[in-house]
Amino acid sequence: MDTLQAIESRRSIRHYKQKPIPRETILKLMEAARLAPSSSNTQSWGFKIITDSSTKKELRKACYNQHFVEECAAVVVCCIDFGQFKMRGKRTRELVRIGAVRPSPEMILRSLRGGSDKEYEEERNFINGTINVAIAAEHIVLAAANSGIGSCWVRAFEHERVTRIVNPPENHVVLCLLTLGYPAEEPPPRPRRSLDEIIFE
Ligand SMILES: Cc1cc2nc3c(=O)[nH]c(=O)nc-3n(C[C@H](O)[C@H](O)[C@H](O)COP(=O)(O)O)c2cc1C
Repeated sequence: MDTLQAIESRRSIRHYKQKPIPRETILKLMEAARLAPSSSNTQSWGFKIITDSSTKKELRKACYNQHFVEECAAVVVCCIDFGQFKMRGKRTRELVRIGAVRPSPEMILRSLRGGSDKEYEEERNFINGTINVAIAAEHIVLAAANSGIGSCWVRAFEHERVTRIVNPPENHVVLCLLTLGYPAEEPPPRPRRSLDEIIFE
């Protein structure tokens, strides 16, 4: 399956077979997350893979009783790791050293300016952190589609309750959950706006 086929065939799956996903298969999907692009290559993410029934049950309750959160084979809890932004300078220098980027004088000035403004820094980390984790999560979703594994993004949850269940490491903030499992449904494509509607002149 090529990338476009995976994109076209992917659906949010909310009914799963009661069949576990082998650990190696889940790790292959996580490898797709690891390779995702991120702002300044900060890789500001952390994941918890939950497969045990009692934790999935707790998560279902924290997700407004969305049944598939318990019925899926695994829940991947996707977190922003804000601690990684402390390494931004190091990561950038690494990119410069290997010749991946050659910052213009304007970029250097901008980063110096940004570094001195705490409020701007926090906002930037929040936005970039969200984008970075979202890309990594969608890599998991597409890799899953490519392996015949269904998935669904879940953002409708009680944040504090999920955080208590997951108990993420310091500096980690839960952004979204992904349910994974072998599909027990083959839904048709969901409605989408046309290209004409989404490309503006
Ligand atoms: C950020 C985000 C949050 C979502 N949260 C939920 C959710 O809590 N529960 C759910 O059933 N689907 C959720 N979805 C799935 C969307 O409903 C779904 O992507 C959309 O209806 C389009 O359907 P499709 O994914 O099958 O193409 C979420 C999707 C995204 C991207």
